[in-house]
Amino acid sequence: MGVHMDKKEDENILKGDTIAWINKNNSDYYENIPLKLFQHYAIIGGFENGCDIDVVYDDYIARASSVLDVGAGYGRALQRLLDRGYTGKLIAIERSKKFCDFMRNKFSNKVEFFNCSVDDFICEMPVDIVLWMWSNISEWPQHQQASILKRLSSFCKPGGFLIMDTISHLITPINVTAYNTQSYVAETEYGTAYGYIPSLDEINGYAKEIGAVSVKNIPYKTSTERDRFIHILGF
Ligand SMILES: C[S@@+](CC[C@H](N)C(=O)[O-])C[C@H]1O[C@@H](n2cnc3c(N)ncnc32)[C@H](O)[C@@H]1O
Repeated sequence: MGVHMDKKEDENILKGDTIAWINKNNSDYYENIPLKLFQHYAIIGGFENGCDIDVVYDDYIARASSVLDVGAGYGRALQRLLDRGYTGKLIAIERSKKFCDFMRNKFSNKVEFFNCSVDDFICEMPVDIVLWMWSNISEWPQHQQASILKRLSSFCKPGGFLIMDTISHLITPINVTAYNTQSYVAETEYGTAYGYIPSLDEINGYAKEIGAVSVKNIPYKTSTERDRFIHILGF
């Protein structure tokens, strides 16, 4: 399917079948979407309850002394970590001021927050686990996915893990208004969100490219029976 939209080139939109956008183009969408609606999407997706965290909690997170949640949203994963009894150091990066203010208020001193883009984050203390959940990698265009993964891997201690979630690239995500071989656009009243869903082969290729010493791809079903994957990259 071709995706065609009538917008100016400098607005980073579509040219023929090519979607040209960068991660920053999604920031208005997250700043504007009502938190309750965003949470509702997690409920529809079946992972509002943190079933993604449960897949990795016992084997990876329970034994970690520090976890960095990148693009933490409204704190869905952080909540599950605390509910599971995690007592190690928790750090979260979130670019949206609205989400970050919400989480600061909700979790107060249980989590150290950085309201910035991950591009600007300076990691002074590498962590055992970097979490990048709810298809966060799709927030970057294909040509930048390996480099953002490389950046995230630099936040891991030797022996640490980068844990991330994706949906299958064969499934069109909900709410999208245009979809074109793994690239999507969701035009909403809150702004436009862009994404690129990597395939398993691409993820394995990125892992190799950035020097991961191990990769596990774990399929799981959310509580609304949606098929997703957790990928665990060791460093
Ligand atoms: C799909 S949501 C995932 C939320 C959360 N990880 C979860 O699992 O519930 C993506 C989040 O990443 C944030 N985000 C996107 N790009 C970012 C960046 N460059 N730096 C920091 N946060 C970013 C968005 O603001 C949004 O809250």
